[in-house]
Amino acid sequence: MNALNKCKEALSQSTYLLQRDCIDSEAEVIVQSAYRFTTGKKLSRLELYSIPNHEFTEEILSHIQSLTKSRACGVPLQHLTGVQSFFEHEYEINSDALIPRPETEILVQEVILNQTNPMLGLELGLGSGIISIELLHHFPQLKMLASELSVKAAELATRNAERILGKGGNQAGRLEIISIAEAYFVLEPFQKILVEKKADLIVSNPPYLAKNDEIEEEVLNHEPHCALFPPTDSANNEDALFFYRKIARQAVALLSFSGMIYLEIPSTRAAQIESLFLKEGWLVEIKKDLSSRERVLIAKRNPRRNYG
Ligand SMILES: C[S@@+](CC[C@H](N)C(=O)[O-])C[C@H]1O[C@@H](n2cnc3c(N)ncnc32)[C@H](O)[C@@H]1O
Repeated sequence: MNALNKCKEALSQSTYLLQRDCIDSEAEVIVQSAYRFTTGKKLSRLELYSIPNHEFTEEILSHIQSLTKSRACGVPLQHLTGVQSFFEHEYEINSDALIPRPETEILVQEVILNQTNPMLGLELGLGSGIISIELLHHFPQLKMLASELSVKAAELATRNAERILGKGGNQAGRLEIISIAEAYFVLEPFQKILVEKKADLIVSNPPYLAKNDEIEEEVLNHEPHCALFPPTDSANNEDALFFYRKIARQAVALLSFSGMIYLEIPSTRAAQIESLFLKEGWLVEIKKDLSSRERVLIAKRNPRRNYG
């Protein structure tokens, strides 16, 4: 039996992964990753299926075995391979930041479709950097000011920005990171920095889960909780809408007259979030993802309304 089939068999015996229909593709990624880690060479899918057994040295086989064991115990694939593709680039990933989700590509796509030559953007909750970096790559004049609570996530985002945008010509310097001291600060830290300046856009995929939501064990056990859950109040009460509530109230002071807000939203709370923004006087549009679930909220000022 060759290395790939052994890996598939081991994964399919894991009680943890039993329900998944992606065992084959995960095994392919594990074998490719172990091969690349050990030899420095990338194997295409075609090569993966045609490579002779003797080219899998003991070192590669033992690396495959250890990755397979960890995966079978529920460690996310991206934490084992250390990478995840997002939009147009491959990102370094580790357990310090949320693993990029394909749905977030829709958020980036909406910003790109709606904006022409934005100069200043704000992101709340940078994580691994995927949103700001893709926007900076797409809009060469743009500068992004991005906040992040986790120091380790900010370091990861900095490495991704330098590798993808390039250190030369101050490309990665177009991303300025604001370190946040407390989770309940939302847009206040931007207000201090911007003073009179106004942004063309605010984008965010904020933490939006509640403890009682249905959450996969793999996510709960391996992804940072500050990326999943908003902060609780002093009486330990949860508010899954915390970030949306505050953004709806605070954004108007930071945006130019034609400035826009782009937020990833959980489909289960889309109606509540929409009404929060409507109540604060925004004109709102909701975009669906590929599974027809409400996924992105776009808000702009109502020109007829006086925001005071
Ligand atoms: C859902 S993750 C999104 C990360 C990344 N933008 C993405 O889409 O993959 C939310 C991020 O917000 C950060 N965060 C949590 N509270 C924050 C706050 N009050 N201000 C800034 N960032 C915060 C978390 O550490 C986490 O990296």
